[in-house]
Amino acid sequence: MPLNSGKLISIEGGEGAGKTTVFNAIRQYLGEAGLTVVGTREPGGTTVGEQIRELLLSPDHRIVPEAELLLMFASRAQLVQELIRPALAQGHVVLTDRFTDASFAYQGGGRGLPVAHIEALERDFVGIRPDLTLLLDLGVEQGMARAQSRGQALDRIEQERTDFFLRVRETYLQRAAQEPQRIVIIDASQPQDAVVRQVLTALARWMSA
Ligand code: TMP
Repeated sequence: MPLNSGKLISIEGGEGAGKTTVFNAIRQYLGEAGLTVVGTREPGGTTVGEQIRELLLSPDHRIVPEAELLLMFASRAQLVQELIRPALAQGHVVLTDRFTDASFAYQGGGRGLPVAHIEALERDFVGIRPDLTLLLDLGVEQGMARAQSRGQALDRIEQERTDFFLRVRETYLQRAAQEPQRIVIIDASQPQDAVVRQVLTALARWMSA
C-alpha cells in the first residue's frame, strides 16, 4: 500500500509482548523513509485520554466491565477527533500502540462483554480501522513473566488471572484469522531483534503491495 495518503498503523498484543521496542523501530524506519510519523497510544494519547488511562489502570479502583469499555471508547473518541483524523488529513502516518482491536480482545474476549456492543461503539464513535495492524503474539505465561520482570508494580488489568489473558490472546488470533489482509501475526516469542526484523519485513511488504 503506497504511503501517499494518511495511514493508520496499530501495534497490538498481550502483556510483555515487546510493543515499545517494535513501536520505536517502526517509527525510525518510516522516518528514514521520509514519512512524517505521529506516534500515540491507547488508552491515552491526549490530555483527556491520559487522565482516563490513569483512572483505568490504577489498581485502586474497582471498575465494572461496562464502565471499563466505555472509558476505553471515551479515550478513543477523543484521540480520533483531536489527533488521528487531523493527522491523517495532512497525509501523515499515525502509529498507535493499541487501537479498537484491544477492546474486542480485552473487553470482549477477556471480560465477556457482547461483541455487538463493541461493534456499535466502533461504528458510531470511531469510524476508522487501522490500515495495518501488527499483532505481537506471545504465550500468556511468557508474557506475564516478562511483564513481572520489568520490576514495576502491575496495573489493574495486568493483575488479571491467566484465563483472562488466554481469552484475550484467543480473541486477537480470531480477529487476525478473520482479517488476514489487515492483521499480520508476529511471533513475539523470538528474541527482540528477530521480532523487529519480522515486523520491518511485514511493513516493507505492505508498503510495496
Ligand atoms: P499497555 O500500555 O500495556 O498497552 O496498557 C494498556 C492496558 O489497557 C493493557 O492491559 C490493555 C488494556 N486495554 C484494554 O483493555 N482495552 C482497550 O481498548 C485498550 C486500548 C487497552
